[in-house]
Amino acid sequence: MGLKIKEILEKEAFTRENIISLLECAGEDRTLLFKKSAEIKEKYIGNKVWFRGLIEFSNICSKDCLYCGIRKGNTNLTRYNLSDEEILTAAKFAHDNHYGSIALQSGELESPFVTNRIGKLLHRIKELSDGELGVTLSVGEQEPDVYKRWYNAGAHRYLLRVESTNQSLYSKIHPNDSKHDFHRRLNCLKSLQDIGYQTGTGVMIGLPFQTMDDLAGDLMFMKEFNIDMCGMGPYIEHADTPLIEYSEILMPLKERFDLTLKMIAIIRIMMRDINIVAATALQAIDPIGREKAVKIGANILMPNITPGKYRDSYKLYDNKPCTDDSVEDCQSCLEARVSLADAEVIYGEWGDSKHYKKRLNKKRI
Ligand code: 5AD
Ligand code: FES
Repeated sequence: MGLKIKEILEKEAFTRENIISLLECAGEDRTLLFKKSAEIKEKYIGNKVWFRGLIEFSNICSKDCLYCGIRKGNTNLTRYNLSDEEILTAAKFAHDNHYGSIALQSGELESPFVTNRIGKLLHRIKELSDGELGVTLSVGEQEPDVYKRWYNAGAHRYLLRVESTNQSLYSKIHPNDSKHDFHRRLNCLKSLQDIGYQTGTGVMIGLPFQTMDDLAGDLMFMKEFNIDMCGMGPYIEHADTPLIEYSEILMPLKERFDLTLKMIAIIRIMMRDINIVAATALQAIDPIGREKAVKIGANILMPNITPGKYRDSYKLYDNKPCTDDSVEDCQSCLEARVSLADAEVIYGEWGDSKHYKKRLNKKRI
């Protein structure tokens, strides 16, 4: 007979079995889980939310992940690449509106051109904001030298989702070739951390073939790796991808949504002071999905500030919300939404992961 949920929630550390029980809990137990994670957020972070203005600057990708709408093999979309001026205008918008940070995201490309381009953009973003705007990069796997160069140019956070920490599941959702190598992805995360980035990772939830044991393993990996930021979202099938073939074995969208909330709640309890993103994919399932995530543990929102005309082309999954909103609409809409979750948007601060600062202090001692 396993422990009751109430007993598990009182423990200092969770075992794999404890995490599985939490992922499977329902009814009053589920309420207890969310109550606990909300309390921890309130205590260690406060009822606060920081914005990262998201600029999806290009949907050109050299990889072919079997789940992703912008995979190289999908010819059913228009490819775009924002001009430097368009990126800088979006960054300026974020700065003028007192967002503490922006996140630059794109498909994965490795080339000297990309390395130089991002390096130059980082300098110009720092310049236009007097060094005030924090920059998160999310442009995939790169060589350590490249990460280092961008770090020196002013990027200080990096998001690289591992997608799944179970190698066998990873190989079912990616082509099995050297471009999609599980170990390289892990090595990239390690170099990011070693270089000094605030390092973020995450997984998709509700993938075909994924088990509760896999998800428990994902959370244990994040704790063990000592990540600073976490971005997890439900898997949402995209019609123009190979994984669509497995739609019938997926759990219903509502369950994927609920499981994502539980994953967020559990990681908040396990790693009290990290930054946790309320992923946009949550809102593709539930109109107030991100707000629900904020209530039970998330503290970061990423308003999309990509110029409107390109948004329709950055569809990683079907039903992506807000692709036709203007930038300003997105902001006021989000602000109203955050207050619905009894939280407050903090402007003019980077909103760094407290966990990162503590981790650095420990390293120095
Ligand atoms: N459903 C949900 N999330 C997806 N991503 C890519 N494709 C999908 C999908 N079909 C996520 C991946 C990637 C991030 C940018 O978007 O986790 O790391
Ligand atoms: Fe672009 Fe996976 S398809 S990184």
